[in-house]
Amino acid sequence: MDFNLTEEQLMIQKAAREFAQQQCLPGVIERDELQKFPREQLLQLADLGFLGMMTSPKYGGAGMDTISYIIAMEEISKVDASVSVAVSVNNSLVCWGLEHYGNEAQKIQYLTPLAQGKKDGELYIGAFLLSEPEAGSDATRQHTTAIEQGDHYIINGVKNWITNGSSASVYLVIAQTDDSKGHKGINAFIVDKNTPGITVGVKENKMGIRGSDTHAISFMDVKVHKENRIGEDGFGFNFAMKTLNGGRIGIAAQALGIASGAYELALAYSKQRKSFGKPIHEHQAIQFKLAEMATRIQTARLICYQAAWEKDNDMDYTTTAAMAKLHASDTAMWATTEAVQVHGGYGFVKEYHVERLMRDAKITQIYEGTSEIQKMVIGRSITR
Ligand code: CAA
Repeated sequence: MDFNLTEEQLMIQKAAREFAQQQCLPGVIERDELQKFPREQLLQLADLGFLGMMTSPKYGGAGMDTISYIIAMEEISKVDASVSVAVSVNNSLVCWGLEHYGNEAQKIQYLTPLAQGKKDGELYIGAFLLSEPEAGSDATRQHTTAIEQGDHYIINGVKNWITNGSSASVYLVIAQTDDSKGHKGINAFIVDKNTPGITVGVKENKMGIRGSDTHAISFMDVKVHKENRIGEDGFGFNFAMKTLNGGRIGIAAQALGIASGAYELALAYSKQRKSFGKPIHEHQAIQFKLAEMATRIQTARLICYQAAWEKDNDMDYTTTAAMAKLHASDTAMWATTEAVQVHGGYGFVKEYHVERLMRDAKITQIYEGTSEIQKMVIGRSITR
């Protein structure tokens, strides 16, 4: 077993760290406050090849492994989780899903510009439309319908909590074609956002990842050609689940980054802040917090790497991905709360960043499968 990162992975880590410090840190507080979508940062990430990191160069991607992607996600998430969630959705849910289950024509038309992150000089990213007002955790109960009509499907319904909802150019839409077949009657479609009948709702006013672009999207008689269906008829639910397994590794890495960002800030503050005549890290009360943060974060990092390694080695990574997301997101929530505590009153104000990281951490226990869903996935796997 080799715990060393390769030369290439170390280069990715350095590039992502520098990018996060130089391009994401300035203005992160204002973007959070104003709920400003980080378009400029994403355009720069497109130029760095970070929007299609794992996609083959044949389809405009950077052709890197999943561990490199995890490393980049950690570094960006240390500073701005609103940037990293857009990176994660585009890489794991959209590009990976299309590369593995799309046909050649779909890859040429859609995957290539999505992996490049740009088309005609403009940002070109995707969104993954599975959740609905009444189908979140219970994802097989899709109310959105896609009914066959000649060479087309007609889509009607509402999707909720859609990351990149208004900024995406391409939607991957999951919808029910034949209710009598349950989840085997669900299909997935590639839909251009500009298709008539699509309405983007107002941006959600969220607790955290406030720069991220989250909307409800409604479909009224939206006509999509059969060529845009992903895979065989009835493959849509399996497509969503298989794609989400990789998505969960990305969100686990986001949680890891939020936790390690908060820890690094708390450690630095503890060396500079004095109380009772000495730096506060010399007090056992603070040193024990830092020791426990460092330990839990390292275990989260190791399980993220393991899940990524299993994926890169074509193993079944479903359970490890769920464990990584469960553990890393709980670590993020706990470590950011402790980081605020280490900062005392300063932790409660925006300038010190840790209160934002604490707010950002919460969503990692919810999206791409709540912690309870991850426990279901793990529980079913270990008791099978
Ligand atoms: N990997 C691969 N296949 C899976 C799977 C997984 N993790 N989980 C389920 N499946 C497959 C099953 O094998 C089964 O397929 P077959 O019939 O072909 O064997 C099929 O899916 C149905 O599975 P179940 O019978 O287990 O269905 P269920 O209803 O009992 O449970 C569930 C399914 C695991 C709870 C699933 O609904 C689930 O994961 N829910 C959470 C959904 C979710 O993560 N939503 C996130 C929204 S996307 C998002 O947040 C993106 C964003 O913008 C940030």
